[in-house]
Amino acid sequence: MGPARLITIDGPAGAGKSTTARGLARALGWTYLDSGAFYRLVAWQTARRGINPEDEAAVAALLPQLAPEPGADEEGFFLRLDGRRLSGELRTPEVSREASRVARLPAVRRWVTERLRQLARGRRVVAEGRDLGTVVFPDADLKLYLDADLAVRAARRQQEQAALGAGGDLTATLEAIAARDAQDQNRTEAPLQVPSGAVILDTSRLTPEEVVARCLQLATERLHLAPPGGAGMAPPGRGETTT
Ligand code: C5P
Repeated sequence: MGPARLITIDGPAGAGKSTTARGLARALGWTYLDSGAFYRLVAWQTARRGINPEDEAAVAALLPQLAPEPGADEEGFFLRLDGRRLSGELRTPEVSREASRVARLPAVRRWVTERLRQLARGRRVVAEGRDLGTVVFPDADLKLYLDADLAVRAARRQQEQAALGAGGDLTATLEAIAARDAQDQNRTEAPLQVPSGAVILDTSRLTPEEVVARCLQLATERLHLAPPGGAGMAPPGRGETTT
């Protein structure tokens, strides 16, 4: 394995970050890190233990008791806690909402950031979240920022929920996403913003495969990587996209 290399993907909920990060990491043979899973884990545990998510001291006291172990399989990134693999319990609308609340707390952000940096050390990583290119890995080799129309993002989220067996009203999903975006963008600590030097990609009218292909092209060009599968290099200049 060569030196540590990093690609960050930031953006709002439903912009396609997870699917893209998973697909890109798979195509490159790199490690995929889903930072949102750590915030979700803290929110889930806070709720289970009846801790007030606004009480930073109480939430901070919980953190040393949590020792999540990351793992990866065909489906992508997951966390194990006390030997148990977590999946659906971290993806409920309640946990999404509460994750955005605990993510405002500096103690929680420090805890997650430390873990992500440790995990990335010496590895080739595609990491996604809200502050990966701005705070966690400001020296990343390539920074991507995915965005999409709110209506498109809400429809995607609703489909995901349906796949997990949870129905849902599109308007309610849209409102929940808009509220979470506002909270993530307006917090004092590490707000969601476009990292300097990031390539912005609007995924509203692209399929997941098209987004991965575009990001892969950018990665191979910018990081001078051999394209997966040994195909010829993409012509120079293409992929200078944005929006
Ligand atoms: O990406 P995901 O939807 O799983 O993230 C859940 C929540 O965790 C986000 O709404 C955000 O509040 C928080 N988060 C964050 N910084 C990150 C990743 C996620 O604040 N890097």
